[in-house]
Amino acid sequence: MAAGRWADSAEDAAIAAQRKKEKEEEKRLKAEKARQAEEEAAKRKIQEEQAARAQQRDDGNERAGKRRRIEDEDMKSEVKKSNLLRAPRSEWYPSRNVSNFERLNHIEEGSYGWVSRAREIGTGEVVALKKLKMDSNDTGGFPVTGLREIQCLMEARHKHVVDLREIVVGNELDEVYLVMEFLEHDLKTLQEDMSEPFMPSEIKTLLLQLTDAVGFLHKHWILHRDLKTSNILMNNRGEIKLADFGMARYFGDPAPQMTQLVVTLWYRAPELLLGAERYDQAIDIWSIGCIFGELLTKEPLLQGKNEVDQLSKIFELCGVPTDETWPGFKRLPNAKSLRLPRNQQNMGAVIRAKFPFLTASGSDLLTSLLSLNPATRPPAQEVLAHPYFAENPRPKSSAMLPTFPSKAGQEKRRRHASPSAPVRGNAPKIAGSDFTDIFASRANEESGAGFQLKLV
Ligand SMILES: Nc1ncnc2c1ncn2[C@@H]1O[C@H](COP(=O)(O)OP(=O)(O)O)[C@@H](O)[C@H]1O
Ligand SMILES: [Mg+2]
Repeated sequence: MAAGRWADSAEDAAIAAQRKKEKEEEKRLKAEKARQAEEEAAKRKIQEEQAARAQQRDDGNERAGKRRRIEDEDMKSEVKKSNLLRAPRSEWYPSRNVSNFERLNHIEEGSYGWVSRAREIGTGEVVALKKLKMDSNDTGGFPVTGLREIQCLMEARHKHVVDLREIVVGNELDEVYLVMEFLEHDLKTLQEDMSEPFMPSEIKTLLLQLTDAVGFLHKHWILHRDLKTSNILMNNRGEIKLADFGMARYFGDPAPQMTQLVVTLWYRAPELLLGAERYDQAIDIWSIGCIFGELLTKEPLLQGKNEVDQLSKIFELCGVPTDETWPGFKRLPNAKSLRLPRNQQNMGAVIRAKFPFLTASGSDLLTSLLSLNPATRPPAQEVLAHPYFAENPRPKSSAMLPTFPSKAGQEKRRRHASPSAPVRGNAPKIAGSDFTDIFASRANEESGAGFQLKLV
């Protein structure tokens, strides 16, 4: 009988294994289906967008009488409505091939992809071509990061967001390119070449344009999640445009759980460093604060060597959080192992010492953008209305901003020495014991500026 029992259980095991396999297969198919649906929806949106743009171009070519305008409006709302539905069959057509473009020069060679300046052969128009990064974690299918980049850029049509013209494909399956308007500079490369920082009136203009764009994104429930000077493009007409939506995503209220592995270290908000899983627009506002500081001095404001060092530099500049200034911060995952000094820094004084030429309202704005507590950072609309922008010197009109020779326009660029956006799958290195150890060694060196970080 023993043999029988063995046989039974072996058979049972085989059946169980088979069932498990089937279940897994079912799960996989379901996930695959969901992904395909997402892909299809995105593709549909791209094609509708292209059709809408073609339509708008045609419309633009005709003289606009009143009657005509009314018809246009109807047509546009028709296109809008159809975004929610399946596209009419006539609007389907395949993406064009990248061979319609002639590459002029590389602009930027990153570790993941590259951007080049190119000319559309048919029209002679100069554009920027960005090859989408294919995620090595994704086996097959279109990477979700690429989809988000396309979706967010398509949604974010704004004067100060880079214009996505079209998606084109190469001969390989994984070759997908964004065709964008070409801009002569990015703020990082530009500032590296400038002998002096921008003037206060110019900084105001740039900051207003940036905040306008970010406010628009937030109004449309998009977080950029990688605001930094290399992702801000500038043309020779004094206009900046927000670019690189590779980290962007939709969010909601209340904010969903999202990865903390976002935003390039030097521009990363304290709540992210402390491991918050729920965060909101305030992380982009923090980055704007860092960019404001960088525009004032031409140097990145908080250049941490790693997550812990970043946090330490933040506390040096902004003081340490307390239960009063940031209720509940101690509950954040990485805050538990952190013991902070009792003596409070006066953030206003530190900022004034660091930026002696900044007016009182300027330092008030910077201080509020860099509030440790995300809830007290002002939303974009409030930033735009800040008295700093109303006082003298007033913001310069864009047309009066200086122009510069374009590196992107002529030659291959160096790779930036600053850190790049985080990669999916890299865990932040702030956790329990690690944190303590690294800080312990800092205790000796970190005595400048009257600030000391003491740890367990
Ligand atoms: N439309 C554009 N016009 C001109 N230069 C661009 C454009 N888009 C990107 N670049 C340049 O390429 C760099 C990298 O592009 P980005 O979109 O930020 O890609 P990545 O995800 O690799 O950071 C930018 O910092 C900028 O210098
Ligand atoms: Mg970038």
